Amino acid sequence: MSDERRQIAFTVNGNLASVRVAPMTRLTTVLREELGLTGTKVGCEAGDCGACTVLIDGAQICACMVPAARAEGRRIETVEGLAKNRALTPLQDAFHRHGAAQCGICTPGMLMAATDLLNRNPRPTRRQTEDALAGVLCRCTGYIKIVDAIMDAAYGTGGGAGPQNGRAVGARLVKVDGVAKLTGEEAFGADLWPADALVLRAVRSPYASASFSVSDLRPLHKKYPGLVRVLTAVDVPGRNGFGIYPHIKDQPALARNVVRFRGETVLALVGDAETVIAIADEELPITYYPADPVIGLDAALGKRSASIQKAFKDNILTTGYVCKGKSESRKRDDRSKVTGAFVAEGAWQTSFVEHAYIEPEAGFARRVGDRIEITASTQAPYMDRDEIAAILGIEPTQVRIIPSACGGGFGGKLDLSVQPLIAIAAWLLDRPVRCTFTRPESMAGSTKRHPARITASAACDKDGRLTSFKMHGDFNTGAYASWGPTVADRVPIHASGPYYIPAIEASSRAVLTNEPPAGAFRGFGVPQCAIAHESLMDMLAEKAGIDPLEFRLINAIRAGQETATGQVLEASVGLDLCLEALKPHWDKARAQAEMFNERSRHRRLGVGIGCMWYGCGNTSLSNPSTIQVGIGTSGALTMYSGAVDIGQGSNTILIQICADALGVPVDALGLVTGDTDLTADAGKTSASRQTFVSGSAALLAGEDLRAKILRLANVGPDAILEFRPGLILARDAHTQQEVHLSALSPDKRGDVVVGEGTFDPPTTPLDENGQGIPYATYGFGAQMAEVETDMDLGTVKVRRIVAAHDVGKAINPIQVEGQIHGGIAQGLGMALMEEYVPGSSENLHDYLIPTFGDMPEVETIIIEATEPLGPYGAKGIGEQALIPTAPAILAAIHHATGARITHLPATPGRVRAAILAARK
Ligand code: FES
Ligand code: FES
Repeated sequence: MSDERRQIAFTVNGNLASVRVAPMTRLTTVLREELGLTGTKVGCEAGDCGACTVLIDGAQICACMVPAARAEGRRIETVEGLAKNRALTPLQDAFHRHGAAQCGICTPGMLMAATDLLNRNPRPTRRQTEDALAGVLCRCTGYIKIVDAIMDAAYGTGGGAGPQNGRAVGARLVKVDGVAKLTGEEAFGADLWPADALVLRAVRSPYASASFSVSDLRPLHKKYPGLVRVLTAVDVPGRNGFGIYPHIKDQPALARNVVRFRGETVLALVGDAETVIAIADEELPITYYPADPVIGLDAALGKRSASIQKAFKDNILTTGYVCKGKSESRKRDDRSKVTGAFVAEGAWQTSFVEHAYIEPEAGFARRVGDRIEITASTQAPYMDRDEIAAILGIEPTQVRIIPSACGGGFGGKLDLSVQPLIAIAAWLLDRPVRCTFTRPESMAGSTKRHPARITASAACDKDGRLTSFKMHGDFNTGAYASWGPTVADRVPIHASGPYYIPAIEASSRAVLTNEPPAGAFRGFGVPQCAIAHESLMDMLAEKAGIDPLEFRLINAIRAGQETATGQVLEASVGLDLCLEALKPHWDKARAQAEMFNERSRHRRLGVGIGCMWYGCGNTSLSNPSTIQVGIGTSGALTMYSGAVDIGQGSNTILIQICADALGVPVDALGLVTGDTDLTADAGKTSASRQTFVSGSAALLAGEDLRAKILRLANVGPDAILEFRPGLILARDAHTQQEVHLSALSPDKRGDVVVGEGTFDPPTTPLDENGQGIPYATYGFGAQMAEVETDMDLGTVKVRRIVAAHDVGKAINPIQVEGQIHGGIAQGLGMALMEEYVPGSSENLHDYLIPTFGDMPEVETIIIEATEPLGPYGAKGIGEQALIPTAPAILAAIHHATGARITHLPATPGRVRAAILAARK
């Protein structure tokens, strides 16, 4: 490799910088690797995501598309240059108060684009703001609070968060960890690495199904002295297989002579950065023997289909089943029809959906004696710890997981990605090793939402009361199990929707194919089955001559009624409240649509509704979380939480809960999070469980510490505690006592008193008919969508969504609103545009996600049907917000056009075809 470097000088944030680099080096690389300015993020290196947006001579530009030579003599501004002496600019402050940063990976780019806008146009309209920031993608927020924040910075509109006055729970507080997201200090997976770290690049299969062999690697090493090691399957020290379930460890860290999907890791190159990038895949001594891949459900379920994994007969990974209320239906081969005065039936199909978190998978590992330490972006540190231990053949106690900030997960970072590769390399080489997936390999190698094929029918009596429901769903789970069993289990439980129905039969299959592993993605199959049950509700309402919202109100499950699994819901069942809250919006919007449509034939308005329910936490499995809170000799309070905040705000929520339990303001509590050496296991950040499960643990921890202090001070339960440096003052009606902290012995973390809380939601196993208590509580919601459809082109514009969600108790309404906005954005994407095609969807210009311009006006309505088991009555919202969006949009398209969309996404071509079919 020739050295073409030259010295290039420019200013960055007012300081002169001079670097010696190759002229075509990306400016992002110069900023991040040469100058240590990692506030500028990299999401795609293709000009698609805008995470790398900086200002050059005052104008926004994607730094990944700028060669270093073009920076010569220019003035560059990055996010690190905004706050002076840690004082946030008004724009940053507005982002902070409005909760405009969730995970924060897009935030530097957003801030720089907004700075450019406000410099040019200090008083922009919302539309001008959306246009100016259109090049920056956010996968978390739904963009609404970002625009709110910019409007606030421009016009001083105020709003957002305020100071804590009194109790923290229920208050609109800023994120406890929000400032670092605004200054560029937040360190994500690709932002941290030891100076002497080697770089690892995974080499991936270009074939969906093939066997392969790797021959002599010595010539490669000879040609590339910077290549330190090539890892193959034989290098895995322990078990070369990982997976979510104790009995299924089917996905190899490095493929063993066979690849089962395009993008599977075949080997890994470890060396200096230039070398591992310079080696072309064609130079590698890999010989592939391609086979015909099994693509799609029909191919996998065919009689002569090739077997994807021998352990799973007929390519069926697992099945799920629920049956209640009809004794004659309690057999799996029963094909009896639903019965009632009105019957509706249909078939639906959905596509692979990519998580498209803006932060690609990244991290580094280093060996420390006989231990391995991994810093990476993850949703599940303890699960990572145990899997890495097995892969390395060591004890879990020899593995330390230190999660970096997580730049979006949505379920996709529950599975291992870079971790096994960097762990094996660092373990074998005894040198730090880092790895960041490129966007194409992130998309090729990571899990997806399951494509589903669902057939379902439902019936109601003449008054519109549901009588029976039946569904079968096949879910394409790809080449490896990942979370396929969870989806197969969760789908039949939720298949009939949030309604009371006396007779229900629902079944599911997770089917193996030679496609990317489908795993966890916000809802675990429930969003797919909601499309079917909500379409059926609309069809039945139409047949029964009942308004769709009224029909749902008639059937909404209520406290005292049985779910599909025979579980009697006792409290916190708020669907009817959500529907009542939507009703005035619904009546008005339906009337307006009617008036509009009388005047317009080509453009038609439609208003549709979608409802959801979702069980919080694991399905019928122990699901505990443990949180600790300690006080040190100085009097500093620290909460230790193993729950990873992936942008949804759990750090803030748990601190709010713990602070109230303890009786202190939130800013009195420090936070240590995620590190498996310093925190207890709080379970995975998934299944909308952190507020409900870890929140309950945080409440118990706060109460436990308070009780211990009261005992130490020998005061009554109502005593007031005052925390002072080195001292706690405890006052009750009779006495005032002092607890001198320096007199107590500190533990290894330096705490002298520690409170601990563990909560495991009560569930029971399901019997052979799927009867039992799978979840301790459920979230409920209803959304109304207004859409405008072009009858000739089939294009759909979602104009407005009103979303009512029962969250039990909104611990922090800003965070709840943010989750609803973000869920709606992802639901809209699933409904209208997102379709991952293996081999074709390689980047964020091939795979479209909603941008600023796609977002409708959103009104959120928070319903609080108190959950007695939840912390201060709270339950989850993370997955819930996405589930009803697509059904509401599809219903609105039908209302506008008369066409029912049964194949998602509803692209213009599919909508137009459905409109033409409906006219026949
Ligand atoms: S990293 Fe530059 S646009 Fe995505
Ligand atoms: S906050 Fe925008 S991508 Fe996460």
